[in-house]
Amino acid sequence: MKAAHIYGFGDPSVFKIEETNTPEVAPGHVLIKIMAAGINRLEHYIRNGDFLKEEDMKFPHILGADASGIIDAVAADVSNFKVGDKVIPMTGYPVDPSDYDISPATAAPSFQVRGVHSNGTYTQYMIAPARWVVKDPTDLPHEQAATLPMVLLTAVRAAKVMGEVKDGDVVLVQAGASGTGSMMVQVAKALGARVLTTVRSPEKIDFVKSLGATRVIDTGKEDFLDIARKETGGKGVDVVLDGLGGDIFTRGIAALRSGGIIVTYGFVTGAEAKFNLIELFFTSKQIRGAIAGNLEDLTWGLDQVKLGRVKPLLHKAFPLSQVSEAHRLVAENKVQGNLALLPWA
Ligand SMILES: NC(=O)c1ccc[n+]([C@@H]2O[C@H](COP(=O)([O-])OP(=O)(O)OC[C@H]3O[C@@H](n4cnc5c(N)ncnc54)[C@H](OP(=O)(O)O)[C@@H]3O)[C@@H](O)[C@H]2O)c1
Repeated sequence: MKAAHIYGFGDPSVFKIEETNTPEVAPGHVLIKIMAAGINRLEHYIRNGDFLKEEDMKFPHILGADASGIIDAVAADVSNFKVGDKVIPMTGYPVDPSDYDISPATAAPSFQVRGVHSNGTYTQYMIAPARWVVKDPTDLPHEQAATLPMVLLTAVRAAKVMGEVKDGDVVLVQAGASGTGSMMVQVAKALGARVLTTVRSPEKIDFVKSLGATRVIDTGKEDFLDIARKETGGKGVDVVLDGLGGDIFTRGIAALRSGGIIVTYGFVTGAEAKFNLIELFFTSKQIRGAIAGNLEDLTWGLDQVKLGRVKPLLHKAFPLSQVSEAHRLVAENKVQGNLALLPWA
């Protein structure tokens, strides 16, 4: 099979398209023919060396957490899948079967995200434990379905589970045009919230409005803290969903109402934030973290997609051979929604 290998970290040109062995199906596993792989910022961080050390990796390495594919082979002990089923593998799961029932799955000591320390989806075939694969209930084309797993899972976990967003809430989503942000806007809307969201440039305003955002804040011209207060009669918003971090996270705490919840799930502008503990506990505000999610979070999210309440946001699909061009767009913040790779194009 063909795979996009990296032999070390570096700029988007580091990928090499090479032949490698197709993995063999192991007990409890299925072999998936990958029809499309999704690209996430996580892979940009890994490729760029922001996240891991080269000495902790095994090269050549295949990046990629997200895929949409078709079952190509099934182990003899697997009964819930058959060849030809359209499936989506979970982006991350506990690799030790004795951890399989730990909830949240991310709390399991053996939890791993695909494509970080194990080979990922920028290739033509992958194996996955049948326990961590879902049948795709949507009729979406593979390149659209492949953009969903990580961002959808993260959005459901952050908004519904950790943020406890409910009907009538006012929610502030940071960077509504980003891969995760565009999903957070839609999931918060599906949960019945009024959504305020930020963009940094006017050309992204129409895109985030089309996702259902009620108020788009162009941070080049407006202050999101002022708007959050104005839109809530001075009270502050119920929930902030923040994938940016740094000072933006600190100001997000200020945008909350007393007792409100801020969920942190990313660190695009900084992994550290400084805030005043006294102000935090005097107002009973809560800071929560969200990472990935459980199988049922993905299933709930895919049902929302099937109901038409949440849409995949494919910006562009590239043949696997153009993986470097795709990563360049991520590095330059030129993506609205998500990108996909087509391993058979
Ligand atoms: N916890 C989890 O399970 C999980 C899952 C997925 C992703 N993440 C994390 O979530 C974060 C976002 O990922 P993503 O895939 O959504 O990334 P993305 O699609 O590449 O979007 C990043 C966004 O960051 C914004 N941005 C960049 N520099 C900025 C700055 N200086 N000030 C304000 N905004 C800035 C950009 O907003 P504009 O659109 O305005 O340019 C851009 O759209 C990353 O840290 C990622 O690792 C976490």
